[in-house]
Amino acid sequence: MSNLEQTLSIIKPDAVERNLSEEIKVEFKNKGFKILKDKKIKLEKHEAEKFYQVHQTKPFYDDLCSYLSSGPIVVMILEKENAILDNRKLMGATDPTKADDGTIRKKYGISIDKNSVHGSDSPDNAKIEIDFFFKD
Ligand code: CMP
Repeated sequence: MSNLEQTLSIIKPDAVERNLSEEIKVEFKNKGFKILKDKKIKLEKHEAEKFYQVHQTKPFYDDLCSYLSSGPIVVMILEKENAILDNRKLMGATDPTKADDGTIRKKYGISIDKNSVHGSDSPDNAKIEIDFFFKD
């Protein structure tokens, strides 16, 4: 059965700063993702806090929000069959040192914070995260 999905992807400040946005978009396209919408923006810290509110009880929450709002990011809606899981596979483990060869985080990630990309982890969060950035 077909399971066409959309997921929210973010190219984080460390990758945008190193001019890797286009190269990372090619990684997605080569794996069959369509980039339905994309835009380059810079978040205020309070916006990053809202985006990452599921992590608000975590010890790394404040640093995470400071980091996401530290420079420009590229946000995208990606579409393909099983986009949510396939995007997470393509990104690799959160910690780049633990990510498999061939994944985006293994290739471009610098640290667990500067791990180059974010992707929605479930259909519910994909909808929430897409609406967060692209609700007209
Ligand atoms: P992301 O997929 O954007 O979702 C939350 C982010 O928190 C995660 O990527 C990491 O960059 C960051 N983070 C920082 N420290 C940790 C940690 N100890 N465990 C999980 N995520 C962490």
